[in-house]
Amino acid sequence: MDFASIKAKADTYWRDLSNLEHPLIHIGMGTCGRAAGAEAVLATIESTLKDIDPLARIIKVGCIGMCYLEPIMAVRKPGRPFIYYGDLTPKKAEQILTSYLLKDDPKAEWSICTLAENSANGNGSIDGIPRFSELPMIRPQVRIALRNCGLIDPENIDEYIARGGYSGLNKALSMTPEAVIKEVKESGLRGRGGAGFPTGLKWEFARKAHGTQKYIICNADEGDPGAFMDRSLLESDPHAVLEGMVIGAYAIGASEGYIYIRAEYPLAVERLVLAIKQMRKYGLLGKNILGSGFNFEIKIKEGAGAFVCGEETALMASIEGARGMPRSRPPFPAQAGLWGKPTNINNVETFGNVSAILERDARWYASYGTEKSRGTKTFSLAGKINRTGLIEVPMGIKLEEVINDIGGGVRKGKRLKAVQTGGPSGGCIPAELLHLPVDYESLAQAGSIMGSGGMVVMDEDTCIVDMARYFLGFTKSESCGKCMPCRLGIKQMLDVVQDICDGNGQPADLELLERVCEAVQKGSLCGLGQTAPNPVKTTLRYFMPEYEKHVIEGKCPAGVCKHLFHYEIDPDSCTGCTACARKCPVGAITGEKKQPHAIDQTLCTKCGTCYQLCKFDSVMVK
Ligand SMILES: Cc1cc2nc3c(=O)[nH]c(=O)nc-3n(C[C@H](O)[C@H](O)[C@H](O)COP(=O)(O)O)c2cc1C
Ligand code: SF4
Ligand code: SF4
Ligand code: SF4
Repeated sequence: MDFASIKAKADTYWRDLSNLEHPLIHIGMGTCGRAAGAEAVLATIESTLKDIDPLARIIKVGCIGMCYLEPIMAVRKPGRPFIYYGDLTPKKAEQILTSYLLKDDPKAEWSICTLAENSANGNGSIDGIPRFSELPMIRPQVRIALRNCGLIDPENIDEYIARGGYSGLNKALSMTPEAVIKEVKESGLRGRGGAGFPTGLKWEFARKAHGTQKYIICNADEGDPGAFMDRSLLESDPHAVLEGMVIGAYAIGASEGYIYIRAEYPLAVERLVLAIKQMRKYGLLGKNILGSGFNFEIKIKEGAGAFVCGEETALMASIEGARGMPRSRPPFPAQAGLWGKPTNINNVETFGNVSAILERDARWYASYGTEKSRGTKTFSLAGKINRTGLIEVPMGIKLEEVINDIGGGVRKGKRLKAVQTGGPSGGCIPAELLHLPVDYESLAQAGSIMGSGGMVVMDEDTCIVDMARYFLGFTKSESCGKCMPCRLGIKQMLDVVQDICDGNGQPADLELLERVCEAVQKGSLCGLGQTAPNPVKTTLRYFMPEYEKHVIEGKCPAGVCKHLFHYEIDPDSCTGCTACARKCPVGAITGEKKQPHAIDQTLCTKCGTCYQLCKFDSVMVK
């Protein structure tokens, strides 16, 4: 089939779907939706629709980004826009469907927003319901990599093609590989896997490398704690990534590609397998792709979930069947990569952007972002923030806009303490630096990194020393052990930080930590060791008084390090409501009803239940 026929078929399907004379229901069935109970909601939707309108259609979509509102469904009546509803239970979903479909009451008070994908579905407005684009979480966003996430059926290639999919590949195949590389270079796209190396330049190295057999690899290892962008994109729009890979393969002259994905992402793997099958059927993969004479195959390699296997040389060793250990560079993968052949490795989101760039053009993409950081970046917003989810913002946006406007600020009205970016390779940005623009250079200047896009928000109840300990614990157990500075240095840093958390820290430890950080950073072979000190370095840089409080005063102001604080009840504000005493698991709280209560320190296990529970802020950390 040529591309025109493929596109015509997809457009017909899409037009029929838009003009459906029966209700259409989208339900978010990404991992976030399923974890929140979407399967039970789906079962209820199916049984309810059987009674109301058996010809109604249900489409399982991926994640639209508002993970904090899952399970989410969208209901579209003929000629109307979709109405989104979140925080669903099976009962609530049934009530919405019966109310809207039978009585035409959309239950506006339960809705999130409306969304019209084209004019066949009205002008997008329904009284009393805001539009999707007007939501505070959505307004500052620009969705390029996530353009289809939550809006299409990830298991239906026609939905992707109808929304512009594979037209970038079709265009690329009519260009020379050099012209494709030029386009990517002009877009200013930099690798989204962490280091931010210019993608077009990397492709040029691989193109120019000698050798008839070349490989292209998609790095979907995503091991950073708190990061779920790549998983979400693969689950919600696998073709966007696969199309980018085929374009990349054509540009560098690769005939074989691998997707290296952790086995803990079964839904993403399932959707990739299906998507690859669909591509083959349409002649978008395999021999003579779209009649261009270009041949390319993709294989999926499931990794066992070791963080270090995300490092490109370790990743290739793992594909080759060896233990996933990094090796020194040069030679770089572009010269001698997989099986010793020239290889290009890119991140999931990088490929997702490539397909969009070829579909539109370089200038359009480069119009977003800053001079040196073009385009957009996806982030997984997590931690103590009101609106957790998957977002995509233009580079250069201020951190405060991300935290406050998009994320809705810190949960429970608590004070923001820091934002952690870049996972274990990144650092902690203190609340005072919220005006910082989110781009490669600004984050690096602040001592952190963009990383692959994990963004974890910390409030006043987070102990910064404990946080550094957490990341060191992670990198220590994930270090492959090949080189001594990483293997022993991270352990030494962890021991020192553990001592500080346990109340056994000495003032000299702080200086020792700085010295070991330098040694590990400079002496380690791969990025894991080279960046493992970052969480310690940035916390020492911005939160030295908190370290000093631990070491000199023997106090943990956040009330996390158990040896360094205790809980007390303030007798002046305690109302004697008894809530804490009733829930204390060890019976350490005593007091008469309506009289101030008190904690028996010899019994208290510092579980924090009373602190979390007290509505009068009477339980204090001392
Ligand atoms: C320890 C370690 C883990 C990494 N994990 C990932 C990962 O999960 N995904 C990823 O794309 N890049 C990861 N990287 C970066 C890759 O080695 C590589 O730079 C990247 O995949 C290149 O793609 P890009 O140019 O599109 O960013 C990791 C690097 C290190 C040192
Ligand atoms: S720095 Fe750490 S993870 Fe990297 S090769 Fe050395 S020991 Fe292995
Ligand atoms: S929950 Fe708070 S107000 Fe109520 S008894 Fe306990 S400390 Fe006092
Ligand atoms: S911290 Fe836990 S154990 Fe201690 S008094 Fe409060 S509820 Fe009881």
